[in-house]
Amino acid sequence: MTVAGKMPMTSKPAELNYDGHKIEFQVTEGSEGERGIDINKLRDATGLVTIDNGFMNTAATSSAVTFLDGEKGILRYRGYPIEELAEKSTFIEVSYLLLYGELPTATRLKWFEGQLAKHSDTKEGIKTIIKAFPKEAHPMGIASAAVVALSGFYPEYSEGHLTEAQKDEVFPLLMAQLKNIAAYQYRASQGKDLVDAQPKKFDYVTDFLFQMTGKDVDPEVSKALNILLILHADHEQNCSTSSVRLVGSSQANVFASISAGVDALWGPLHGGANQAVIEMLQEIQADGGDYKKFILKAKNKDDNFRLMGFGHRVYKNFDPRAKIIKKACDTILEKLKIKDPLLAIAKGLEEEALKDQYFVERKLYPNVDFYSGIIYKALNIPTNMFTVMFALGRLPGWEAQWKEMVETPSIKIGRPRQIYVGSTERHYQAITERK
Ligand code: CMC
Repeated sequence: MTVAGKMPMTSKPAELNYDGHKIEFQVTEGSEGERGIDINKLRDATGLVTIDNGFMNTAATSSAVTFLDGEKGILRYRGYPIEELAEKSTFIEVSYLLLYGELPTATRLKWFEGQLAKHSDTKEGIKTIIKAFPKEAHPMGIASAAVVALSGFYPEYSEGHLTEAQKDEVFPLLMAQLKNIAAYQYRASQGKDLVDAQPKKFDYVTDFLFQMTGKDVDPEVSKALNILLILHADHEQNCSTSSVRLVGSSQANVFASISAGVDALWGPLHGGANQAVIEMLQEIQADGGDYKKFILKAKNKDDNFRLMGFGHRVYKNFDPRAKIIKKACDTILEKLKIKDPLLAIAKGLEEEALKDQYFVERKLYPNVDFYSGIIYKALNIPTNMFTVMFALGRLPGWEAQWKEMVETPSIKIGRPRQIYVGSTERHYQAITERK
């Protein structure tokens, strides 16, 4: 296992020839054979910086949390294949794995569950903040605001530097709180009383569903949600995780860093895609169900429309999470005896797109969000809450990545350079002289 921040060098350096000078750069190699050119001395040696739109070629860090091979469709948390974890594990066990690097023993699992239970009451002030939002406010805005507000209620964990003992408290605290926040905001939006957590009675996932509905929870529903949360738990240096790390690199506290992750996840190109997929499928349905028309729209460069739930920055073969979700989707709909016409549209759309040259050439496949919305819908989770469900799943990943970052001795504040393309120097003019 590679230790974060300590990447072994390979014997063969990379060479750059520029302006008559030859400069050598060390090449480092990760535990799965990924190699990276270490350009730390580039600017000092050459005056040059690199330009990398969307960080498509930039490794922002070394990390021992998650391994992803987009070409082969591999995803592993701490070395464990996602398929095995989705089949055999629980979301809480996986959260522990991400945070501590190993699957918990029975004693450690009990301890972790105890930590979640210990922090499962929510302060009245946070409830007041949630209730103060208009009923139609988007749950992601409420989640972000409530998470950063926790910093005011837990000053003891609101420093950039935390001791091991403080981290052992604050990570389960945030998990317990985000679960409550997500359920409370739903109840508040419906004008219903808030239902508090009952960690002694229910497991984490069942408790969340109980808090949302106030009713007995079907174990099949709880099981399906458990799988979804496991599949979303981490995804290495994606947009929201990179945001968590970037904000955390300024030594901002963990609440502020995680709140930034929630904000980044909200966008429709990232976690917001699950909501956008259902809205797109509903649009196709309302339009008469002709998905071929929408494929033409997605291919038309004069049209901003994209096939939501398709494509991925890293997966260029298939998204292993999408494979598991598609199967889970069939299973849960069958078990709950639900016939959702949107599923038929989704399957038709997928089939058509996968044989279309445009999608084949660009290696665009269904991603994790393509079928997840249909499951959330079957579980009676409202569409505007889908991305909050993603956030609930991703939280232990954000925490593990934040933890890894603050524990890396050589960590620097994230501060990219730019290539300036604005005006060169000019001088101030009095307002009367301006044209
Ligand atoms: N529909 C139509 N065309 C697409 C799509 C799509 N969903 N995705 C990419 N393309 C085209 C894009 O127009 C471009 O074409 P061209 O080469 O002719 O200019 C080419 O494919 C490459 O796309 P890109 O935008 O440069 O690729 P990217 O790696 O920057 O973007 C993406 C990845 C996920 C943002 C993008 O595929 C997309 O917008 N997908 C739809 C939104 C979505 O489902 N997001 C969820 C991602 S999975 C959840 C998560 O982990 O965040």
